Amino acid sequence: MQIIKVKNYEEMSVIASSMLVEHVQQNESPVIGLATGSTPEGLYRSLIAEYRKGAVSFQGVTTFNLDEYVGLNKDDATSYQFYMNQKLFDHIDIPEEQIHLPNGVSEELQQDCTDYESNIQKAGGIDIQVLGIGLNGHIGFNEPGTSFLSRTHAVELTASTREANSRYFSSLAEVPTQAISMGIATIMESKKILLLVSGEEKAEALYQAINSPLSEEFPATILQLHPEVTIIADELALSKVLESYDESESAFEIKELQMK
Ligand code: GLP
Repeated sequence: MQIIKVKNYEEMSVIASSMLVEHVQQNESPVIGLATGSTPEGLYRSLIAEYRKGAVSFQGVTTFNLDEYVGLNKDDATSYQFYMNQKLFDHIDIPEEQIHLPNGVSEELQQDCTDYESNIQKAGGIDIQVLGIGLNGHIGFNEPGTSFLSRTHAVELTASTREANSRYFSSLAEVPTQAISMGIATIMESKKILLLVSGEEKAEALYQAINSPLSEEFPATILQLHPEVTIIADELALSKVLESYDESESAFEIKELQMK
């Protein structure tokens, strides 16, 4: 596990973007796992800027998103498909058929989850999975208590996650109660994981993710077992980790990256 400490949200976004751009430039058919929420918005803005500069093309890229709400179709402004179109896909040259999100309005939900898994396999697996972290340690929409062996599945959202995400909806009552999420085992099969964390609000979650014993009650602790995790976190998000960090005793390394 490697931690890259950056000053703020902007630096986190630009560094994450340069890592993805480099991967896309160096590979013919890269497979990228994408996330939603506030955390990756700056990353997506930076990817669009790189595309507009002509630095990168997404023609060969295949994407798999982590999750989607159940009951929202893709034209619904609060669906993750809509978010992804608006924040990234509509502004780059990725072919539509190479974009994958779980289908929130499927009538064959179980079959769709199985197909989602096999589509990831057919694409050769995910090279880099971008992750954010929920306040309760969720990754994707894998809430506390989800099995570490889980595959793409339907989940019941917790009250705290619905509350945290209600800012995107006109009222809490409108936040769906269920979602479809890539499973934890699916996420762990990604060759590389890029976890982005910004802001003081996430300091406790980040601390727990890397210091607490592995527990399905705090899903992000599983990342301690992944051989290729890079965490890009800003100073505020790292505030709690740094309070007790001892380089000689820690299982992870913190590297400071200054932008030019
Ligand atoms: C949401 C998403 C997650 C995301 C997390 C954090 O519920 N399903 O994929 O990582 O919560 O969101 P944010 O980045 O807005 O804090």
